[in-house]
Amino acid sequence: MANLKEEINKRRTFAIISHPDAGKTTLTEKLLLFGGAIQTAGAVKSNKIKKTAASDFMEIERQRGISVATSVMSFEYRNKIVNLLDTPGHKDFAEDTYRTLTAVDSVILVIDCVKGVEMQTEKLMEVCRMRDTPVIIFINKMDREGQDGFDLLDEIEAKLNINVRPMTWPINIGAEFKGVYNLTEKNINLFEPGSQKDDQDSIQIEDLSDSALDDLVGERDADQLREDVEMIEGVYDPLDHQEYLDANIAPVFFGSALNNFGVRELLNKFVEIAPVPGPRETDTRTVESGEDKFSGFIFKIHANIDPKHRDRIAFLRVCSGTFERNKFFKHVRLDKKIKFSNPYAFLARSKNVVDEAFPGDVIGLYDTGNFKIGDTLTEGEEMLFQGIPSFSPELFKEITNLDPMKTKQLEKGVKQLTDEGVAQLFVKQPGSIKIIGTVGELQFEVIQYRLKNEYGASARFDPVRYYKACWITTDKEAVLKDFVNRKKGHIAIDKDGNFVFMAESKYLLDRAKDDYPDLEFHFTSEFKLQQEV
Ligand code: G4P
Repeated sequence: MANLKEEINKRRTFAIISHPDAGKTTLTEKLLLFGGAIQTAGAVKSNKIKKTAASDFMEIERQRGISVATSVMSFEYRNKIVNLLDTPGHKDFAEDTYRTLTAVDSVILVIDCVKGVEMQTEKLMEVCRMRDTPVIIFINKMDREGQDGFDLLDEIEAKLNINVRPMTWPINIGAEFKGVYNLTEKNINLFEPGSQKDDQDSIQIEDLSDSALDDLVGERDADQLREDVEMIEGVYDPLDHQEYLDANIAPVFFGSALNNFGVRELLNKFVEIAPVPGPRETDTRTVESGEDKFSGFIFKIHANIDPKHRDRIAFLRVCSGTFERNKFFKHVRLDKKIKFSNPYAFLARSKNVVDEAFPGDVIGLYDTGNFKIGDTLTEGEEMLFQGIPSFSPELFKEITNLDPMKTKQLEKGVKQLTDEGVAQLFVKQPGSIKIIGTVGELQFEVIQYRLKNEYGASARFDPVRYYKACWITTDKEAVLKDFVNRKKGHIAIDKDGNFVFMAESKYLLDRAKDDYPDLEFHFTSEFKLQQEV
């Protein structure tokens, strides 16, 4: 029997996040190459939904097929088991990314040095901040004419609301990029464009006043580096590991993923400092990863691309104890015992049936419709993991059945697709009007396509103008009842039976808030995690 504590300490479960095009896919690939999980460059590229293919359904289907394989990429590196969870790059699938972030212990954030902090970067960081997820920042594309290093750090601190500490520092940038100076190891890695070498030879420079530095990078850049390092040491405190783990400070690396430059330093530091699987909150108590009894939750569900086989794959993050094959576990929401004969893990990009899995691991479970996103499995304890909220969608459409003979199919399809988290469903009375809410237009296309192809249902989607769907709560039952009565036409029920106020405009939302000071309005379905609106 494996030693649970040792297994936990070996695990590093994380995701790479970025604004599209900053270099997430390229960095992922380089990390996998280091970890021996892939042998050739270009293997991960196919994972991306190309912008040009935004409405190409076959492309979406193809993506669904391969994205099962890339959902989790596990590899061993320096005696650690690294679990890299994939997040979709396309902004229309941002909610998938948010949910995946609930299953990681830390993230690496990639920023393009030319573009700086972009919109999606800010949104993703907000999600990380909700859960105090530790962040390491990789400033990419240093071979391009980007912004000044200090300006980038200032921008990151200001826009992402986190303190930074550079770990490496670039020597010049763009066409004149010479390499990086490692501020803690006190060595220089020289950049050779296009070299793709796995390991740059680092040159130890203990004392920056050494003239060897001038010989290496030229007098002008050597002087600039001396000045920069003096400034860094004056302005930024040394990295405090605990501050990083508490998500107060983000170590920053500079490099070029495409040129495989600076990636090794990043990975080495990552496995050294990134958090091991830690405690998780449930509705009743905090669960420590080292507890003997198994627990875990589902953060992602993937439908089988073959419509003849309705089974799906539910991705479970192990939170505590040991998951064992063929052992009965309790599905808390359904109050049902289930065992899994073919759970699989994703080592080196192949699926292997596993006998056991440990905290931090992600396993794929065949599912015939038992699971919804957010479901908890335990050894019997009644508790539900928290932190897998639904966010208020940005687009809403009313769904109308076009084929009365296929009502059942449509209902089933809509239910299963919303269980998978492809979109959210809000039901309004009278008439059980179904409103689908999504983050992006592309999700509607996926739904429409899949309803037809997998369920044989045909439906019309009519846009409805809503500003936000707000979850409403109060401890005053009578006030809630009154509000629901008065706003009847604007109240819907979400998948868990919660009341949702469908606000048509910010003005109407503000008015409702003024009129009902005892009610709380929330932009996410899990209330204690988020700021009030
Ligand atoms: P993403 O997953 O974050 O969306 O980004 P991805 O890795 O696909 O990178 C986006 C583009 O940036 C790609 O070019 C990629 O080759 C390029 N890139 C990544 N890292 C670097 C770097 O360090 N330096 C430079 N100069 N470019 C970099 P593309 O032309 O859009 O795609 P492709 O045709 O190369 O696949």
